[in-house]
Amino acid sequence: MNTKPRVIAQRVQGQPTSDGDGVKLTRYIGTQAVDMLDPFLLLDCFSSDTPDDYIRGFPSHPHRGFETVTYLIAGKMRHKDNAGNEGVIEPGGVQWMSAGRGIIHSEMPEQIDGLLKGFQLWVNLPSSEKMKAPAYQEFVPAQVPLEQRDSGTQVRVVAGQTNLGTHGAVRNIGVSPTYLDVQLAAQDEFVQNLGFDHHALVLVIEGQIQLGPNAELVRSGELVILSQGDQVSWQSPSPSRCLLIAGQAIKQPVARGGPFVMNTQAELMQAFQDYRNGCF
Ligand code: FE2
Repeated sequence: MNTKPRVIAQRVQGQPTSDGDGVKLTRYIGTQAVDMLDPFLLLDCFSSDTPDDYIRGFPSHPHRGFETVTYLIAGKMRHKDNAGNEGVIEPGGVQWMSAGRGIIHSEMPEQIDGLLKGFQLWVNLPSSEKMKAPAYQEFVPAQVPLEQRDSGTQVRVVAGQTNLGTHGAVRNIGVSPTYLDVQLAAQDEFVQNLGFDHHALVLVIEGQIQLGPNAELVRSGELVILSQGDQVSWQSPSPSRCLLIAGQAIKQPVARGGPFVMNTQAELMQAFQDYRNGCF
C-alpha cells in the first residue's frame, strides 16, 4: 500500500482571549481565522502561573449539542454539574463530557497558586445525538494509558490507537477521535496513522518539531492543520511535546450561539428558551 504522508495545510497562531470569569487563554480553533475544523468547534489552551489569570475559573454555565474535553498537564480543576456529578481533573487525566440535550456545570481551579496548564476541546455531535442524555467519560491519570517507548518517547493516549497498539482511555465516541499527548525524545521520530480524511491538527506545546517529509518547522505555541493523508510524522532535534488531535468530520450545518451548538437557528433559539425555562 502506498501511504500518503500528511503535510501542513494551514498554520494557525493562537489568539489571546479570555473566557469564563476572566480566565486568560489562547484560542486556536473557534476564532475568526479558524471558525471550526469539523468536528472540532473550539480548542483553547490555558497556561499561567499567575493566579489572577485563572483563579475565578469558569463558574456555572450551560452546554447543549456537543462534547467538551478537558485535558490537564499541570494544576487541578474541580468540576460540578447540576446532575450531581463532581470530580477533580489532574495532570494526565481527562474528562470527556457529552453535554447532549443540556447540562449546567462549573469548572474551577482547585489551587490558589502555581501553574495551571491544560486544554479544552469542543467536539460536535451529529444531529441524531444532540438531544441525548448527558454522559461522562472521566479518567484519573493512572487510567489514561501512557505508552513508554525504548527511545524515551512517551505517548499519553487519551483517545485513538497508536501505531504500537496502545488504545486510548476514551471509547465509543462517534467521530472516532485520536487525541495523543506526544513527548518526543531528542532525535526520535514519531509516526502515527490516521484515517485518510480525518481532520487533524498538531499543537506544539514545548520545543519545536520538523513535520512530514519536508521537515517543515513548527515552533512551540504554533498549531498546524494537516492535509489529508494516511500518516503523520515528525521529529525533533531536542525534546518536544505536542498534542495530535484528529477526528471524522460530521458534515452537517452548524448553528452556534455561545454555549449551544445546534444545526438550525430554530434549534438554537429553543436551546436558549429551554435554558431560561429551567429545562436543563
Ligand atoms: Fe463548560
